[in-house]
Amino acid sequence: LEQQDAPKPLAGKKAVVTSGPTHEPIDPVRYIANRSSGKQGHAIAEALAQAGADVTLVTGPVTLPDPAGVKVVRIETAREMLEAVQAALPADIAVCAAAVADWRTADEAGQKLKKDGSGVIPDLKLSENPDILATISKSGPMRPGLVIGFAAETENVTAHARAKRLRKGCDWILANDVAPATGTFGGDDNEICLISGDDETSDERWERQSKTGVARALSARIIKHFS
Ligand code: CTP
Ligand code: CA
Repeated sequence: LEQQDAPKPLAGKKAVVTSGPTHEPIDPVRYIANRSSGKQGHAIAEALAQAGADVTLVTGPVTLPDPAGVKVVRIETAREMLEAVQAALPADIAVCAAAVADWRTADEAGQKLKKDGSGVIPDLKLSENPDILATISKSGPMRPGLVIGFAAETENVTAHARAKRLRKGCDWILANDVAPATGTFGGDDNEICLISGDDETSDERWERQSKTGVARALSARIIKHFS
């Protein structure tokens, strides 16, 4: 099939996708961040756009090219990410794939912090960042009908992910096994279990596959949900 002749089962649906890390400045040259390439979130945005959705991708700093057919909003911090996601609502679908920094410095220094030679180490005070997935899951009338998050876990993967789904109030969690032995971080493959219910009877274990494979599988699952 040519691209333009491909079926567009998500035509008329709006989606917002978060991707990449956030950078939380310590001073003008230093920041706090989580490890994230943005590969998974970008691939999801592209897969949803290929299925015909009107997609806004809100992304932290990544080195990836913009996915085709997607509106890209670039941000640095978690607070900017939340603002950009809220500006993209209302939407039918939200997928939070970003690796948001859980904390930021309470007071960003206006000038570069200097080592003064005395060996005194700066005592960084941290504040908790907004939780974008939880905030939009609980956003009342503005809540997208289908809110999806990720849970990257290193042990008790599905149990931790199931608890996270309930805590955040999202509809689905894609539990991703990132135990060092799986080689997921920095690698191209993900091992996903889709959690959509309160117990394991509704769990869907997907074969280990590339991040673009996961994006296509998620897009197919979303299409099934709406059909
Ligand atoms: N998430 C978010 N905003 C945050 C933190 C997380 O939107 N401030 C989203 C992520 O994009 C992901 C999901 O929440 O979809 C789970 O992120 P994770 O870091 O696993 O959850 P936390 O609640 O931060 O728990 P922890 O890091 O302690 O495991
Ligand atoms: Ca976290």
